[in-house]
Amino acid sequence: MHIAELYDYGIPKQVIEILEEQGYRELYPPQELAIKQGLLELKNSFVISVPTASGKTLIAELFMLRSLLERGGKCLYIVPLKALASEKAEDFRKYEKLGIKVAISTGDYDSSDSWLADYDIIVTTSEKADSLLRHSSPWLREVKVVVADEIHLINDAKRGPTLEITLAKLRHINPEMLILGLSATINNAEDIASWLSAKLIKSNWRPVILKEGVYYNGEIFFNGKSKKVENLCKEEVVNLALEVVNQGGQALVFLSTRASAESFALRARKYCKKFLSEEEKKELKELSQRILKVLAEPTRICKRLSKCVEEGTAFHHAGLASEQRKMIEHAFRENKIKILSATPTLAAGVNLPARRVIIRDYSRYESELGRVKIPVLEYKQMAGRAGRPKYDSYGEALLVAKSYMEKEFLMDNYILAEPEAITSKLAIESMLRTHVLSVIATGYAHSFEELLEFFSKTFLFNRFNPSTEDYSDYNDYYIELLEKTVEFLIAREFCVANPLSPTKFGRRVSELYIDPITALAFKEGLERAKRIKTNEFSYLHLLTKATELKSLYLRKKDYDLCETKAYENEAYLLFDIPDEYFSPYKYEGFLSEIKTALFFIDWINERSEEYILEKYNLAPGDIRSKIEIADWLLYAMQEIGKLFNYPKLEEIAKLRLRVKHGVKEELLELISLRGVGRVRARKLYARGYKTLKDIRKASIEELASIELIGEKIAKRMKEQAYEKIK
Ligand SMILES: Nc1ncnc2c1ncn2[C@@H]1O[C@H](COP(=O)(O)OP(=O)(O)OP(=O)(O)O)[C@@H](O)[C@H]1O
Ligand SMILES: [Mg+2]
Repeated sequence: MHIAELYDYGIPKQVIEILEEQGYRELYPPQELAIKQGLLELKNSFVISVPTASGKTLIAELFMLRSLLERGGKCLYIVPLKALASEKAEDFRKYEKLGIKVAISTGDYDSSDSWLADYDIIVTTSEKADSLLRHSSPWLREVKVVVADEIHLINDAKRGPTLEITLAKLRHINPEMLILGLSATINNAEDIASWLSAKLIKSNWRPVILKEGVYYNGEIFFNGKSKKVENLCKEEVVNLALEVVNQGGQALVFLSTRASAESFALRARKYCKKFLSEEEKKELKELSQRILKVLAEPTRICKRLSKCVEEGTAFHHAGLASEQRKMIEHAFRENKIKILSATPTLAAGVNLPARRVIIRDYSRYESELGRVKIPVLEYKQMAGRAGRPKYDSYGEALLVAKSYMEKEFLMDNYILAEPEAITSKLAIESMLRTHVLSVIATGYAHSFEELLEFFSKTFLFNRFNPSTEDYSDYNDYYIELLEKTVEFLIAREFCVANPLSPTKFGRRVSELYIDPITALAFKEGLERAKRIKTNEFSYLHLLTKATELKSLYLRKKDYDLCETKAYENEAYLLFDIPDEYFSPYKYEGFLSEIKTALFFIDWINERSEEYILEKYNLAPGDIRSKIEIADWLLYAMQEIGKLFNYPKLEEIAKLRLRVKHGVKEELLELISLRGVGRVRARKLYARGYKTLKDIRKASIEELASIELIGEKIAKRMKEQAYEKIK
């Protein structure tokens, strides 16, 4: 079907023109199928379960546009990752010409973001969507279409429940709303469709051929055929990557850990170099310099990355600063970086020009379970990054075997295997207590019966429909679980019974988007803090009680330091030190809390990033993510303190600022200037510029002469100082 024909289905000419400008001509078969099945009639919800790269996003775009132009209202586009949110929002901006306003909302969880009321398409993550629901943002009632991208992630134990409950809540407040679920091929797409009362579109079609195979002993085995691999270097996996580079393509290699991703890129660079043109070498050199300058003090990882980039390879994982991640993605898209090694975070939904994807590790370490094999679904997601229509005319996805047996195993269990069925993970206790509280706190249920009624809209209950089969035992089990959860919430004063309603505490905790267990710890800690002398250690240790903040891993050699520091600060601690002999596990857990608190102490006392990374065995991205979580939790701590009239809120507020910027108290004034971080602020201070007044008095030349400042920043600082002192 030519895209011009979309006109007959209610898509205006201007939209078709925009699509033509983008190079679209014919619809892909799954897209055509969806439209012929009535997608644009706006009468049904839909679930699209089709292979990777088969153009699900365009289906969503047409659905949203049709709805917006026909009925007004708003569309919510929910993605699993912040990185994907920006890719999608960029994509959708092409429709701004039509007066359609696109916003991206992924930040602050304690806000109703009323500014979003002015936008038509809002791209967001499921956590953010859930937090907006908890704040009852009025514009949410105008949502007429919700797109759930990568809806199979309902299966994910960490993030699935939030997506599931968010969809249930949205349907609860907007019963007429239409849902479009975009899914990879899964075994039980029917179940998802039945849960959402949606029509199901299934297809196995893919625009670009994706050849899946296993590499073993110098050869690649596809189903039925095999081919020899050219010998360009000794290390087999590097060789596989080099082969496509030699043919003008790019390779993406998935590894299970950050460390192995890094070391792979470092090894591959030596060989990759000789495939670069002089022009490319020049550009890469320049990029590698920019990467080095992202952080004020480059760390070991920055240096490694910069080294790799200079020779045409790179690594990509959550430990990189987000700016560096973007630079790497961009350079890979531009075919400057030839070989990219990554952890599986890069597997979901992104469009990258990888002609060959190599999945070196098909198992990974999981705490409590040890080494586990990845599900077929996840393998398919990684494999699906190869052969994307914008970039390549075919793609290859390869697993790597070390023995003949393993080759056979991989063939049967991945290449030829069907992806598994997905299930709800909402019944996990910690998930349930958070979400049950939010349902009560937002007023969606005023009795246990209503709560049950609400939960009957979740995938958890839907899969066991008592009318079709007798799963009553199974349902009983979940009903009991719900009852227990409600009892717990009542006993701990988050809600009251008859009618079932939130207390002030319960409502605030739900809005703050923290685990009720975290809230209880904060409350208990602050009660004690009222009675004793406190210092920053008190609050930083209290912070580590939050379930949202994973404590740092305790190594044998950390024991001494943590013990010493704990006893040194014992008088300030808001919880008793557990007994080492009677509860050794608790004691060990306590020491890792102390280690985590010490990490923050070093940070706010301006120890260098390099020092902290080394001492705590972390990557730069870890510091950022810990600080982001701590910032939000300290805010929540402060808010809970307010609720219980905690008298020393100032101390927490100050600490929060110090954690956010990583500075001693004396720098707080300087740090309020945009463009001035911990390193620059310290340089200014050392030269005697200690306050905004000092900055205002100083001449631009004086300021510009300070290391790392320069004229541009000096000017900006002075302008701001004037503004602020006015
Ligand atoms: N009809 C079409 N003609 C040409 N190119 C298209 C068409 N539809 C989509 N594409 C292109 O195909 C690529 C893949 O599309 P998209 O990202 O929507 O895939 P997807 O199905 O969401 O895959 P994944 O499951 O990996 O997320 C995009 O670059 C998109 O621009
Ligand atoms: Mg997609």
